[in-house]
Amino acid sequence: MDTGFRLHPQRLHHFIEKILHYAGSEPQEARLVADHLLAANLAGHDSHGVGMIPSYVRSLEQGYLQLNRHASVVKDMGAVVTLNGNQAFGQVAAHEAISLGIEKARQHGLAAVALHNSHHIGRIGYWAEQCAAAGFISIHFVNVVGDPMVAPFGGKDSRFGTNPFCVVFPREGQSPLLLDYATSAIAFGKTRVAYHKGEPVPDGCLIDAQGLPTNDPAVMHRSPLGALVTFAQHKGYALAALCEIMGGALSGGQTTHQGSLQASVDAIFNCMTTIILNPDMFAAPDMQQQTQAFVEWVKQSPHSNDEPILVPGEWEENNRRLRKAQGIPLDPGSWQGICAAAVRAGMPQDEADRLQADCEQVTL
Ligand SMILES: NC(=O)c1ccc[n+]([C@@H]2O[C@H](COP(=O)([O-])OP(=O)(O)OC[C@H]3O[C@@H](n4cnc5c(N)ncnc54)[C@H](O)[C@@H]3O)[C@@H](O)[C@H]2O)c1
Repeated sequence: MDTGFRLHPQRLHHFIEKILHYAGSEPQEARLVADHLLAANLAGHDSHGVGMIPSYVRSLEQGYLQLNRHASVVKDMGAVVTLNGNQAFGQVAAHEAISLGIEKARQHGLAAVALHNSHHIGRIGYWAEQCAAAGFISIHFVNVVGDPMVAPFGGKDSRFGTNPFCVVFPREGQSPLLLDYATSAIAFGKTRVAYHKGEPVPDGCLIDAQGLPTNDPAVMHRSPLGALVTFAQHKGYALAALCEIMGGALSGGQTTHQGSLQASVDAIFNCMTTIILNPDMFAAPDMQQQTQAFVEWVKQSPHSNDEPILVPGEWEENNRRLRKAQGIPLDPGSWQGICAAAVRAGMPQDEADRLQADCEQVTL
């Protein structure tokens, strides 16, 4: 990534809260959204961090994203609950859905919480971390409604979104094990970065408008459009398809098809079905020791000294440590986009200039 700027995390959080305040969010909403976006940057997932702000402001202007709304319960069956996100900020709707799911898992030992019609819920690992912090395992199936970017295995055009899948396993005294990724071979954001740098993407990530393999990221940004392919060929496609069904259909929301295609690229709607399990309900008194033994075992595989073997979630943990100490790197284009969005949201130019300059002072 082009590390044009390093930004001060707390000051950047304040700037984002202020942008949302000027856009019309109540303080609690502004805080939840800023918390989520900053956490994504700190974890190293810049594609789902503060760089989303210009797109959120456009979605608001276009009448898709609705401010100061909340998720509402559509059906409550005890351990299974379905919520409508009411086009609210996903950072609010998913926070409410997962908080309710955790409460249900405390009561019943396990819970399923389904959320539909929510605006973008961002980095899914954040919701898993909310479950892990409460001591629970969670499994998340997510679809992106009506925004095709990914081709089915063997297909020649895009038919569904980058449908993320996520699993978290809490550990005693250590950060949780966290699987959290899009089911496309690479994230859409990575094609944008490569496109702007004029660089090719690795083999096996893209097809062009004729359905032929290509390394040229322009096929995702200029007409005629190509498509991303799923990771791990048919295996990734099968997982993406089940994320679509478990996330979109089972949640009471929509899958991607002709009747659900979105008119706007900025209006990102997610559905998520989450299963939350209390590990104490299992007859597994050695679960933590067994987990630790496995982690140590895989880490002992012969490897090069400068590339240690990581376990899922460790990459994010390492980024957090580094970025809390050194600030958040951001490319100049994304930073300019955020500062321009601040003014579009209603922030006076002089205040935007002052907060921008504050964020760029990175003495931590
Ligand atoms: N809301 C949405 O619509 C949406 C859509 C797609 C993706 N996303 C989010 O985008 C983010 C980025 O997705 P991505 O596909 O680019 O993720 P990615 O390719 O960076 O993979 C991340 C996963 O790989 C693990 N990992 C990384 N290096 C590792 C190593 N050396 N050893 C073991 N595990 C390792 C990480 O811990 C994490 O679980 C995710 O947080 C995802 O939830 C959201």
